[in-house]
Amino acid sequence: MKLGFLASHAGSNMQAIIDACRQGVLNAEVRVVISNNADSLALKRARDQHIPTAHLSSRTHPDPEELDAAIAQTLADHGVDLVLLAGYMRKVGPITLARFPQRILNIHPALLPKFGGQGLFGRKVHEAVLAAGEPTTGVTIHLVDEEYDRGPVVAQREVPVMPGDSVETLAARVLEQEHKLYVETLVRVAQGDLDLSALVRLA
Ligand code: GRF
Repeated sequence: MKLGFLASHAGSNMQAIIDACRQGVLNAEVRVVISNNADSLALKRARDQHIPTAHLSSRTHPDPEELDAAIAQTLADHGVDLVLLAGYMRKVGPITLARFPQRILNIHPALLPKFGGQGLFGRKVHEAVLAAGEPTTGVTIHLVDEEYDRGPVVAQREVPVMPGDSVETLAARVLEQEHKLYVETLVRVAQGDLDLSALVRLA
């Protein structure tokens, strides 16, 4: 598999996947990392590992359609066949979606469809889980469509909420499982045990 990342911030999920490729756990290679944030740690991590990078944002492309086209073209130019969102804070545009049908994955730090959608990202997800008094949260990997956090679920894993959890302790417990589940899911795709093209949205 030839992977392309879209990442906005830390890129720790991206790093876990790069490490899995390097260690031979995952039979895939990372072709390009794209970020809307020129100063993101994700871009720095990629540069440090000699992976091609691109900063593509409303600053480089003020017209949303041109930005979408540039993202799709950059992925295609690098021969990407599976696009991975890893902490990407923007919606994927229709040109990119059409170019990679059933081939764009996102990871979300909760059990979708709970605690997802517009405005529920980063620590806000964990704040909402704690405020709701949920005994369990988790991780969801899903196919990306034109709405936030709504595409067909590819994999989920539960994570317990512990008494006395803060946003930080809960986020750290969830993030640890994100790294594992993203790699394990990609291994299943690479081995042909999971057919992304067969997944459909249920709700
Ligand atoms: C993760 O919690 C992911 O689920 C969410 O954004 C965070 C990204 O973390 N979409 P990182 O950039 O991979 O470290």
